[in-house]
Amino acid sequence: MLADARGHFADHCAICHGNDGSGNTTIGRNLYPKAPDMRLDDTQRLTDGELYYIIQDGIRMTGMPAWGKEGDENDEDSWKLVHLIRHLHELTPAQLKDMEGMNPKSPAEIEEERRDQEFLRGGAEPAAPDTTKPTAPHHKH
Ligand code: HEC
Repeated sequence: MLADARGHFADHCAICHGNDGSGNTTIGRNLYPKAPDMRLDDTQRLTDGELYYIIQDGIRMTGMPAWGKEGDENDEDSWKLVHLIRHLHELTPAQLKDMEGMNPKSPAEIEEERRDQEFLRGGAEPAAPDTTKPTAPHHKH
């Protein structure tokens, strides 16, 4: 159940909350209010039900989106995330590393990986597109 939740958290929550729940990410730090360190008392004091409804409904007027599916009163994924929030403090370095692999990738990272793969397969490393030179339109007279 926790492994499942780690994947889900890495994919949907970590961009703001960090894989470790610290909130120490570029977006998490710069939101106002910022993403809290969920390993600390302020979050851990909330009941399971409170955490569940925050995940389902989000927090109005903040960066915290609602994740509940319309009409789903007992969303298993959200309960798993509650379970993970209780266990954030004991994530191991190996688990955090594993979560990094499940974090969403930017288009630039996907392209870089694709080119690395191509290179490893023995192809010549294609030059990155030169964005400094505008491609001159070719005029026909
Ligand atoms: C776009 C950024 C963003 C994403 C993505 C996000 N959160 Fe949040 N979250 C926040 C912010 C900001 C707060 C603090 C809001 C506040 O202070 O009222 C917050 C608060 C929370 C809280 C309440 C903590 C507390 O102590 O009050 C929980 C629980 C939570 N998020 C869980 C999640 C989960 C689980 C996910 C993924 C399914 C998620 N969040 C995705 C930004 C985000």
